[in-house]
Amino acid sequence: MTKTPSTKARDEALLALIKKLVETPGPSGQESLIRAAVAEEIKDYADEIRTDALGNLIARVGTKKPGGLRVMVSAHIDEIGLMVTHVDANGFARFIAIGGVSPLTCIGGRVLFMNGTRGVIGCERLEPNTAPTLEKLFIDTGALSSDDCPVRVGDVCGFERPFLDLGAHLVAKSMDDRISAAVAIQAIRALKDSPHEVFFVFSVQEEVGLRGATTAAYGVNPDVGLAVDVTRTGDTPRTIKMEVALDKGPAIKVRDSSFIADPRVVNWMVAAAKASKIPYQLEVLEAGGTDGRAIQLAHAGVPAGCLSIPCRYIHSPSEMVSYADVENAVKLLVRLLSEEIKLG
Ligand code: CO
Ligand code: ZN
Repeated sequence: MTKTPSTKARDEALLALIKKLVETPGPSGQESLIRAAVAEEIKDYADEIRTDALGNLIARVGTKKPGGLRVMVSAHIDEIGLMVTHVDANGFARFIAIGGVSPLTCIGGRVLFMNGTRGVIGCERLEPNTAPTLEKLFIDTGALSSDDCPVRVGDVCGFERPFLDLGAHLVAKSMDDRISAAVAIQAIRALKDSPHEVFFVFSVQEEVGLRGATTAAYGVNPDVGLAVDVTRTGDTPRTIKMEVALDKGPAIKVRDSSFIADPRVVNWMVAAAKASKIPYQLEVLEAGGTDGRAIQLAHAGVPAGCLSIPCRYIHSPSEMVSYADVENAVKLLVRLLSEEIKLG
């Protein structure tokens, strides 16, 4: 398939939704702002909305009808970030990573703390030809001393970078996994006449070990579950060997390093994509995990899979997805939830 920029009009409301979601801060454990933003978007469409003890936002859409199942769809609303460990006498803050943060993408970056403080990331002098480690980095908030520093031990920040619309491709700091939150929100709005009771979970603390989805899946106790998350691509210069590329449709996960998708769920997803002529790709991800694992291992076990949005530069401040893939992911998710699910 050749890559041709879409000529048809794009959905401006969807673009505005994506911009709002990716620009709302929410590092793992600090999801209150993004949770409120999502709740606002779905309150007129869900039959019931609640927040569980960990902070997962759980929205029920529909009731179980004959032939229907209880389905859980999980998109995580947390993002990677940093936590202050020490502030020195001159006001420079040292930090640890929240989730998988690379020192290479930190240097020169800008951060936004949950208390509104902004700062930039500096680096100590490095030995020639050495790569930086997180220990070499510090946050400079413009403070003159430790007393003057507006952040203290335990304070959390996320990366700050405005949404960038490149046309066929969209770029932001937290496409992982706000783009899936946008897909789930669109599906909630579009879902009509589903035979299923669908629980849309906007999960917390995924980046630190699928923690939100673990309690959410236990609480929802679904018959079948789907995570929606980003996945890596093999379509940039001299990168990993991987079949998934931008603009070839959403990916149906076969495995990652956290779980093996249930083959019956994979077959159900592939059949739905084929039947509705939605382009799709099969994903085998060498390293990485999603909420699919947490759902699969809930209670006595749940058939689970994952709908993936191909994404370049994951866990950098400039994660890139394809607009067309996002639209097709919404179509596929709505189709999956609208029909009877036969896990043969
Ligand atoms: Co991630
Ligand atoms: Zn993710």
